[in-house]
Amino acid sequence: MAEKSSRGLADVVAATTSISDIDGEQGRLFYRGYDIHDIAQRISFEECVHLLQRGTLPTRQELDGLTADLAEDRRIGATTEALLPHVIRSGAPMEALRTLVSSLSVDDADAADSSIEADRRKATRLVAQMPILVARYEAARNGRDVAGLHPELGIAGNFLQQITGERPAERAVEIFDACLVLHADHTMNASTFTARVIAATLSDIHSAITGAMGALRGPLHGGANEAVMKTLSSIEGGVDEVDGFVRAELDAGRKLMGFGHRVYKTEDPRATHLRKMSEELAELTGNRRYYDFSRRMEQVVFDSKGLYPNVDFYAASVYYALGIPTDLFTPVFAISRMSGWTAHVIEQHEDNRLIRPASEYTGPRDQRWVEISQR
Ligand code: ACO
Repeated sequence: MAEKSSRGLADVVAATTSISDIDGEQGRLFYRGYDIHDIAQRISFEECVHLLQRGTLPTRQELDGLTADLAEDRRIGATTEALLPHVIRSGAPMEALRTLVSSLSVDDADAADSSIEADRRKATRLVAQMPILVARYEAARNGRDVAGLHPELGIAGNFLQQITGERPAERAVEIFDACLVLHADHTMNASTFTARVIAATLSDIHSAITGAMGALRGPLHGGANEAVMKTLSSIEGGVDEVDGFVRAELDAGRKLMGFGHRVYKTEDPRATHLRKMSEELAELTGNRRYYDFSRRMEQVVFDSKGLYPNVDFYAASVYYALGIPTDLFTPVFAISRMSGWTAHVIEQHEDNRLIRPASEYTGPRDQRWVEISQR
């Protein structure tokens, strides 16, 4: 008989990993031993991908090699292309993108190869393809063509250009690039754990990532950034309305999206960066509304519940200021987290054991079978 369960697997160590680490008491996050405060806004998303997937910060030559691979892989196959007009009908981007990601394996030259070398190629390809998928989805649902790619812009700049249809300001690209770095990996979060469970059956990387997309979609996980924006934009009037709104939500027993975290007992270090970026963008765009609302909401939630904002809270006002449509906030999270998910799938495949936990049975015992006519 199994031991008592830990609800939601809280504090259960489900895997060993050398990819990222969190100190929840101190509010610290590390990618391969680098403190996020040291690398956020210093390394590009491409460098971050190298760090997570290949284990080290790249040399100039390694970065050039990865950049060339990513540029080569920035396209989607005919099967995915053909699915686009069908999936936009659902009106739910994460549902559509989950289906599109799954379809990528059909045209992947390495689909049938389950070696680690093939995993690595597919991992890089998936990172290159994800922003293209989101941009293509956005263009398709608006009935327009997507802008061409510019090699000098990198993943962040090209994505912003394709989504907004305009050449993004240099600072906007830097900020978005830093957002991608900040969201790239986060130990055994729900979607990464999902990916590892699937990978641990020796299933393929596309299956693992499709499952991760499903887990990320939920409002308790990556779906929270979209929910935050909906909350902020639903508050009518000025910043003084925020207090009443928050207290009414809490009094009604509802959770406020973008607050609280399973691991952090103090400020989420990613929120520290995103708050600053939100303020900077409020200044640059001349629209402080959602930054001011966010600051006030943070204060009221802390005073009422002692809860801190998580990564999703200030990401909402940042993405809004960058011109990203609200329902693409979670897909943007997926663009970034693809780097972490794929690194974890490779790590799982490199040293695999089936993930099969126990459960604590709470149903009836000693039941006696009775014939159907007697029940
Ligand atoms: N608003 C109000 N109350 C909250 C919130 C919140 N956002 N988060 C936690 N609480 C309260 C709970 O109501 C609970 O109170 P109780 O003990 O009086 O019942 C207590 O704090 C503990 O909350 P749990 O939900 O049990 O904590 P858990 O560790 O299971 O959940 C989670 C963590 C899911 C992040 C939770 O804080 C939450 O729902 N937050 C809102 C959704 C969100 O922002 N998700 C994104 C997380 S970051 C990410 O995944 C990228």
